[in-house]
Amino acid sequence: MEPGTRRVLVTGAGSGIGAAIARALLAQGGQVALVGRRSEPLDELARTAPGRAVPLVCDLGDPASRAGLVARARDALGGLDGLVHAAGVIVHEEPGKISESALREQLELNLVAPLRLGEEALALLDEGGAILFISSTLAIKPIRTAAVYAAAKAGLVSLTHTFAAAGAARRVRVNALLPGVVDTQMIRAPRPGQADVAAILDELTRLHPLGRLGTPEDLAGAALHLLAAPWTTGTTLVVDGGLLL
Ligand SMILES: NC(=O)c1ccc[n+]([C@@H]2O[C@H](COP(=O)([O-])OP(=O)(O)OC[C@H]3O[C@@H](n4cnc5c(N)ncnc54)[C@H](OP(=O)(O)O)[C@@H]3O)[C@@H](O)[C@H]2O)c1
Repeated sequence: MEPGTRRVLVTGAGSGIGAAIARALLAQGGQVALVGRRSEPLDELARTAPGRAVPLVCDLGDPASRAGLVARARDALGGLDGLVHAAGVIVHEEPGKISESALREQLELNLVAPLRLGEEALALLDEGGAILFISSTLAIKPIRTAAVYAAAKAGLVSLTHTFAAAGAARRVRVNALLPGVVDTQMIRAPRPGQADVAAILDELTRLHPLGRLGTPEDLAGAALHLLAAPWTTGTTLVVDGGLLL
């Protein structure tokens, strides 16, 4: 994928890391299918790049809604070179208190949706294209309140390896980013016994040796690198301000 000729489907494009990746691709002159549940942020982003950004509203947790999504993006953009799955959800619950609905929601969006979108992308991406999954450092070093999320993100790492092997014959590369804590709406999700968001942010910041939380733009830079790296596949790139040290 040459800069400026990228046609990429980005999920989670309405906020946080997905939005930053979509903005960075558009800034390079690429074309982007913007996928999210809420139409307003997608429409707003699309207005910044007339004719090069197509909003596709989709509930990725619903198999019927996401079926054929990659084909729709390819048709809308006149071909497809990339898939970035940045949509995700975390529900903090202690072991023993994990609700069935949160279990299903997190597995569906964080693991099943990328598996299904990835299968479709392996078949439909142009030769030489790329798939990028957004996993998490929690896949390697989980926390107690995120058992399901961490398991799904670890599953996504495994999927990265399987799909990288499957895509290689058509030179479709498959990689994953493992962010540390990035300042987005996700990290403000309620946590058991912790109501004060400022205190949570302080505590999370202290976990990062580089002294700050990540920004969505920190991750977008790494994402663009992996999308364009022609001899890199099956790689998991940790971008975490030193969190795992
Ligand atoms: N922030 C962190 O510290 C961190 C760390 C490691 C990994 N990650 C991963 O990075 C990715 C991006 O997260 P973020 O931090 O940027 O959080 P975010 O701003 O909350 O983004 C999550 C996105 O997922 C979309 N989404 C949620 N449920 C959806 C559904 N059922 N169908 C379609 N879209 C859905 C949301 O769209 P709507 O708003 O329209 O619902 C939202 O744009 C996620 O995969 C997350 O697990 C984040």
